Amino acid sequence: MTQDEIIESLDSFFADGLVVEFESVVKSGKEATVVCCRAGHSLGGGMVAAKVYRPLENRNFHNDAMYLGGRTRVMTRRDRLAFNKRTRHGMDVRFRSWIDSEYQTLAMLHEAGSDVPRPLARSARALLMEFIGGQDGPAPMLSAMRLERDDSERILRALMRNVALWLRHHVVHGDLSPYNILLRGQTATVIDFPQAVDARMNPNARGLLDRDLENLCGYFARQGVSADPRHLARELWSRYRDGGL
Ligand SMILES: Nc1ncnc2c1ncn2[C@@H]1O[C@H](COP(=O)(O)OP(=O)(O)O)[C@@H](O)[C@H]1O
Ligand SMILES: [Mg+2]
Repeated sequence: MTQDEIIESLDSFFADGLVVEFESVVKSGKEATVVCCRAGHSLGGGMVAAKVYRPLENRNFHNDAMYLGGRTRVMTRRDRLAFNKRTRHGMDVRFRSWIDSEYQTLAMLHEAGSDVPRPLARSARALLMEFIGGQDGPAPMLSAMRLERDDSERILRALMRNVALWLRHHVVHGDLSPYNILLRGQTATVIDFPQAVDARMNPNARGLLDRDLENLCGYFARQGVSADPRHLARELWSRYRDGGL
C-alpha cells in the first residue's frame, strides 16, 4: 500500500477529528500496515496506532474456514448469505467481518482487564487503537528480545493469566506468537486478534489453544524457562469446561 492509499484509508478518522496528523509507518506486514498518528483532542492528543487492512484481493486473510466457525451467527440474514458467496458485496462483508471481529474482541478483552490495546474506533478499512510504545517509537516485539530468567518467568505467568482470562470470555487468540506480543517496559501487550475464535461455537478452538500455547512455550523455552504447553492447554480447557476459570 502506498502512503497515499494508507492516508485515504484513514479518511473517516480525520473527518471525525480522531486523528489530526499522520506520523509514520510502524510496520508494513503481509496482512496489514500499522501506522502511528497524532490523535485529536477528543482522544487526548497523544499518539494512536491505526491498523490498515490490506484489501482482500491482495491478501490471504487467514481466509481459512478454520477460523470462521460461528462468525456469521451475529450477522444480518442478507450479510450472512452474501458472506458465503464470492460476490463483490460478499467480499465486502467478509472484509468488514475481520475488522469488526478484531475491534469487538479487543473491546471486550480490554474492558475485562486484559493486556491488549484499547480499541478507539473502526472504519471500513482500518482499526484505530491505543499506541503501544513511547516517545522513542513502538514497543519491540517479544520475538526480538532476549530476556533475563526472572523477567521470562514473570512475563510468561502474566501471559498465561491473559490466556485464561480470554478463555473465560470464550476467546482463543488463534495466532499467538512472540511476533504478536509487544513488550512495553515490564508489560507484555498482546495484539493481532482478527482471527480469534469463539470457543463456544468453533470446533477448532481447542486445537488452536494447543497451537497458541506451543508457540508461546517454544519462545520461553529458548529463554530458558520450560513449561509444558500440552499440560497447560489440557488444564485450562478442563477448568473452562467445568466453569472453573
Ligand atoms: N497498537 C499498536 N501499537 C504499536 N505497534 C503496533 C500496534 N499494533 C500493531 N503494531 C505493530 O504492527 C505490527 C503488525 O500488527 P499486527 O496487528 O500484528 O498485524 P499483522 O501481523 O496482521 O500484519 C506488529 O507486529 C507491531 O509491531
Ligand atoms: Mg501480527
